[in-house]
Amino acid sequence: MSRHDFQIPITFKHRIVFTRDAFAPGNVALEEILNEGGGRRVMAVIESNVATAWPLLARQVQGYLEATGLDVRAVDVLPGGEAAKADDSLVRRIWERIDSCHIDRHSYLIAIGGGAFLDAVGYAAATAHRGVRLVRFPTTTLSQDDSGVGVKCAINHFGKKNWVGSFGVPFAVVNDFAFLHSQDETTRRAGLIEAVKVALVKDAEFFKWIEANVEGLALLDPDLLETCVERSALHHARHIAQGGDPFEGGSSRPLDFGHWAAHKIEALSSYELDHAHAVAVGLALDTLYSAKVGLLSPAAAERILKVVETLHLPLTHEALDLRGAGGKRRVFDGLEEFREHLGGRLTVLLLTAPGIGIDVHEMDEALLESCIVELQDRCSLKH
Ligand SMILES: NC(=O)c1ccc[n+]([C@@H]2O[C@H](COP(=O)([O-])OP(=O)(O)OC[C@H]3O[C@@H](n4cnc5c(N)ncnc54)[C@H](O)[C@@H]3O)[C@@H](O)[C@H]2O)c1
Ligand SMILES: [Zn+2]
Repeated sequence: MSRHDFQIPITFKHRIVFTRDAFAPGNVALEEILNEGGGRRVMAVIESNVATAWPLLARQVQGYLEATGLDVRAVDVLPGGEAAKADDSLVRRIWERIDSCHIDRHSYLIAIGGGAFLDAVGYAAATAHRGVRLVRFPTTTLSQDDSGVGVKCAINHFGKKNWVGSFGVPFAVVNDFAFLHSQDETTRRAGLIEAVKVALVKDAEFFKWIEANVEGLALLDPDLLETCVERSALHHARHIAQGGDPFEGGSSRPLDFGHWAAHKIEALSSYELDHAHAVAVGLALDTLYSAKVGLLSPAAAERILKVVETLHLPLTHEALDLRGAGGKRRVFDGLEEFREHLGGRLTVLLLTAPGIGIDVHEMDEALLESCIVELQDRCSLKH
């Protein structure tokens, strides 16, 4: 026998910029990033709803990149939303464009759109030539405060969320606040749930700030929205960079608080329920469960549920009532799917206080059942 264990040291630079009107002449944020990489060729893809909201954007992108001295191969407008993750058709279209535009691993692919679009484009970019440089421009609250600054991409498959995808650090992320303000109000507000989530698992002070400003956030005050997005994005990025497990080899997954149920009810609703609203329901469920098992005080759970409600987000959804063989709620299959997707032992993060999480390895279905019913009762009393 002959065995050789090599260490392959590898570090990534995770470049994240916060700016406004990134493609305006004179805004050097993107230019500096592109110069840093030294690549020459570039293509851009813009999600169609974003292009509609910003009719001059495609021309501005083209002009900006040309003025930077790059060889602009294409500026395409493509469909996005969760439908973009439903199958591989968008991924294939992007592969074809990467090929026909001769984008190589030193070129740039700039992607401008919401979280779903960025996930699909990211998967295409990660797999073409085993990875071309991706510069993400997240355009929704959720993608700016969470997914866009992350290191994952995926599309849905086998009726399961994010089943096929990859890990990889984008070349850069540009959070351009201007994009936030063209979202419809529901999308703009709902994405704040990932900020609530990261505050609950990482930062008691941030949760207190959200709580103190929740009325203004619900009214979408621009300054509060942008501050909240930036604080949340930095928490997510810091966890990835400094948490010791960027590509999720271990079992602990704090940024997935509330997500085992969220992912399952998204799929059970055939993606009629969007990610942000699903996370609100999953977060409410795991918050109440944390209280029922005696980890979290009932008063703290109440404060958290109030924040979710004040943001006009739901605590329950009808997909929770779907039952399979033997009358078991199908959402409970989400626990095993969560475990299998992440690998290793079932690990669910619960709360002991706002800002402090604790990993558990078992969830009691009877207790979860009573939490679902309690949340449903609370909502039906209010309506
Ligand atoms: N990769 C990750 O780590 C990660 C993490 C969290 C969530 N996600 C994924 O992100 C997706 C949700 O992302 P999302 O909340 O951004 O939803 P989304 O991408 O579906 O966008 C919501 C809607 O807003 C539109 N839109 C986007 N930007 C706009 C703008 N600036 N102006 C007007 N309309 C705009 C879109 O066309 C879409 O109709 C889910 O698929 C979820 O699984 C991925
Ligand atoms: Zn999420």
